[in-house]
Amino acid sequence: MSTDDQSRLMRANQANWDARTPVHLASRFYGLDGDPDPARWFAAFEWDDLGELTGRDVLHLQCHLGTETLAFAQRGARATGLDFSEASVAAANDIAAKAGLDVDYVQANVYDAVAALGQRQFDVVYTGKGALCYLPDLPRWADTVAQLLRPGGLLYIVEFHPLLNSLGPKPAPGEGPELLLRHDYLGGGGPVHRDATFTYTDGPAVAGATDSYEWMHGIDEVINALTTAGLNIRHLRESDELPWPRWPQMVRTETGWWCLPEPRIPLLYGLLASR
Ligand SMILES: C[S@@+](CC[C@H](N)C(=O)[O-])C[C@H]1O[C@@H](n2cnc3c(N)ncnc32)[C@H](O)[C@@H]1O
Repeated sequence: MSTDDQSRLMRANQANWDARTPVHLASRFYGLDGDPDPARWFAAFEWDDLGELTGRDVLHLQCHLGTETLAFAQRGARATGLDFSEASVAAANDIAAKAGLDVDYVQANVYDAVAALGQRQFDVVYTGKGALCYLPDLPRWADTVAQLLRPGGLLYIVEFHPLLNSLGPKPAPGEGPELLLRHDYLGGGGPVHRDATFTYTDGPAVAGATDSYEWMHGIDEVINALTTAGLNIRHLRESDELPWPRWPQMVRTETGWWCLPEPRIPLLYGLLASR
């Protein structure tokens, strides 16, 4: 796919994220009418992998409403969030102000992040939980991340596992709770087009652009893009827990997150790399 075609599909995604934003803001899923509680979006292992953040420059790519970005500011980091959705960035600024937290939000496409951030470099770049699937070109993304990191800086991706994306319920409703392998596990294919009136949160239909495009990326593709960009892979974790119940049969664990009844399978992965 040409770069022009990629840009066209990303513009469609941008309009879709602008249209989803008001629904997300009012949703119970994000719970922003009360305490945004940024910590609930993080697994304990993430803080172990990230280490001490006080005084560090942390960049959160594809930050959406900044619900996770706030957690970095709470932990004493100089936090920056970047997202291409103007509506998201406006909302993220309001949410941070209401929480009394100092976060710098920038509206830009990830692929333009180096220029948009004025060539600034960071100690930590964090991204994930529904981010990489919107990126058509992982090698170009990995090159961008490498430029955003100081020497020795850390990239932390916490992303939905390809196995999660390949599972789906039985096609006919009422056929039982089992999940089936319904979609490709391996990534590397072309864009998957969705035209969805409803977004992944609760709430009304999206008023505005409903078309979006996603790219499935296997873990091999992510690792190879990072190593080709010169980053060192430090640690990979696979976790059977998600921050919310993706399917009705998921059960709450003692951490407050959700997992499928046995057998245990990975639903989320954490990948730590360094420059
Ligand atoms: C599911 S959110 C991920 C953030 C966070 N984990 C969450 O769940 O709120 C995906 C975000 O990626 C942003 N996004 C998608 N493609 C992007 C791109 N090419 N450049 C910058 N932001 C992008 C969208 O605007 C959206 O806010």
